[in-house]
Amino acid sequence: MTSRHPEKMHAIILVGFMGAGKSTVGRALAQRLGWMFEDLDDRIEQRERQKITEIFGNAGEAEFRRAEHEALKELLKGIRSGSEKVIAFGGGAFVQQSNISLLDAANLPTIFLDASVEELLARCQRQSETQGMERPLLRTPEDFRQLYEKRRPYYLQARFRQETDGKEVQEIVTSVVQALGLPDRRGTR
Ligand code: S3P
Repeated sequence: MTSRHPEKMHAIILVGFMGAGKSTVGRALAQRLGWMFEDLDDRIEQRERQKITEIFGNAGEAEFRRAEHEALKELLKGIRSGSEKVIAFGGGAFVQQSNISLLDAANLPTIFLDASVEELLARCQRQSETQGMERPLLRTPEDFRQLYEKRRPYYLQARFRQETDGKEVQEIVTSVVQALGLPDRRGTR
């Protein structure tokens, strides 16, 4: 980003654990930038014609990871020709080496939305109670903490880390826009 001829940024990828706010922040960030928003999980569901929970239930996690990788490949293929996009990954997408390799080749900025594991767990439990949101990998609190510890080193490989504990969505969006050096369109629409 410091080069004299910076390449145009076609997409921003938000990564992080379940409950990190990837979709909520992603939508707000896209709106601020005047970009499109896409949730990788939505593309998987459309391609497979099944809900994420059904893919896990009918075919297991390995099949879900295959579908996730294929959906990411398709998404990245269209990135340079289409309009700019903010993309929210599912919590496990940035942990698969095959996906990391695809992203390295695409050279897109990745943002890790960070939060304490207790906050993440509380958010997921709240979403499950109030919105009926189903997450196949949200099992016991102990499993949740263990998975978080295992994945955190991967998330830390993202280009930027953004703290989210105790922050409002718009505050997070402002920090991300500034970190990326993008023009802030706040108040212009
Ligand atoms: C997953 C997280 C989910 C979804 C799938 C697997 C994971 O997305 O992709 O259930 O492995 O952590 P969210 O992070 O949006 O909940």
